[in-house]
Amino acid sequence: MMRVGIIGCGRIVEEGHVPAYRELGVTVTALADPVERRREKIGDMLGVPSERRFADYKLLLGQSDVDVVDIAVPHFHHHKVLMDAAQCKKHILCEKPLTTSLRQADQVLDAVAGAGVQLCVAHNYLYQPSMQLVRKMVQQGAIGEPFLIRTEGLGGSHWDGAPEFNPEWRTQRAIAGFGCLLDNGYHDIYLARALLGEVKTVTAAVSTEREEHEVEDLALALLQHEFGTTSLQVSWAVSGGGQWVYEVYGSEGTLSLSRKSGKLMHYRGEWKELKAPPWEWGFKGLFSDFFSRLQRGEPSPVPGAEGRRNLEVILSAYEASRTGVRQTV
Ligand SMILES: NC(=O)c1ccc[n+]([C@@H]2O[C@H](COP(=O)([O-])OP(=O)(O)OC[C@H]3O[C@@H](n4cnc5c(N)ncnc54)[C@H](O)[C@@H]3O)[C@@H](O)[C@H]2O)c1
Repeated sequence: MMRVGIIGCGRIVEEGHVPAYRELGVTVTALADPVERRREKIGDMLGVPSERRFADYKLLLGQSDVDVVDIAVPHFHHHKVLMDAAQCKKHILCEKPLTTSLRQADQVLDAVAGAGVQLCVAHNYLYQPSMQLVRKMVQQGAIGEPFLIRTEGLGGSHWDGAPEFNPEWRTQRAIAGFGCLLDNGYHDIYLARALLGEVKTVTAAVSTEREEHEVEDLALALLQHEFGTTSLQVSWAVSGGGQWVYEVYGSEGTLSLSRKSGKLMHYRGEWKELKAPPWEWGFKGLFSDFFSRLQRGEPSPVPGAEGRRNLEVILSAYEASRTGVRQTV
């Protein structure tokens, strides 16, 4: 079994990664975070010995009993930590987004290839049971030929980071890079690409509605795929929040998932409610897939190039909004 070292002991590690490691029985041999209370919290949850809780992640990278590093730091730090991890020849599990620029992403891909290690980007919603059910039904023809996805994630605020660090970092340009499209719309885009094929062109309207936000807090995008269209809406500025629906329309039917209630509706001649699996992050499935592939010497399920491509679509949406010109991706 792979031995993991965690870099960045924040909220997603506490709420998403730790439960997955526990369920899978993965041993976390070391962790790193500059904030002592975060090291204590995650270290205690996972039983990591106190001498193996580091303030400086570079000390963790020097440990021989760490096979895979799990990078879960704020966006701006991804590039540096990824480059250092590759240099130390560790396999890497990296939270999304891979980086905040394509130039940085290319450097990471080169470093990873040069080191001969595997990199897996956290496209965890691909492994979320309700989204897997939607994909399976579409692939089995439950709605005929899919041609349109409407994915709405209009929220009233961003997801706070851990209180002991900087809960507002997502709204700060220097540390987050960009706002709700990069942070939340990111997942909708790889999910849509998995159903409707590669994105060909992008148009978007991106804006900042709340003055306390340095990054965009509203993004509306239209993605033209090989096999259909996605209409994507994400926000951190909508009072009360929206309905959080995920809908796939096909030539013969419709699937409509409420990400608020978990209710999944299927239309084919008549509406029927289906039993949808309870919501979960999808980390257990992703981690299990990555680690078993590593053990078999197989490539990562979400390689760096896939993270780079998703980033490229998002950066094109920003460019489309800035210029008012549809972008070919
Ligand atoms: N895949 C998903 O579904 C999902 C969900 C939420 C967050 N995320 C991603 O996880 C990452 C972290 O988000 P979060 O919400 O947990 O943030 P957070 O603020 O709660 O946690 C970040 C942690 O990183 C630590 N940190 C900061 N600089 C560091 C450094 N140089 N070295 C080591 N640790 C450092 C902070 O002290 C903090 O504990 C982001 O990339 C975010 O996009 C992914």
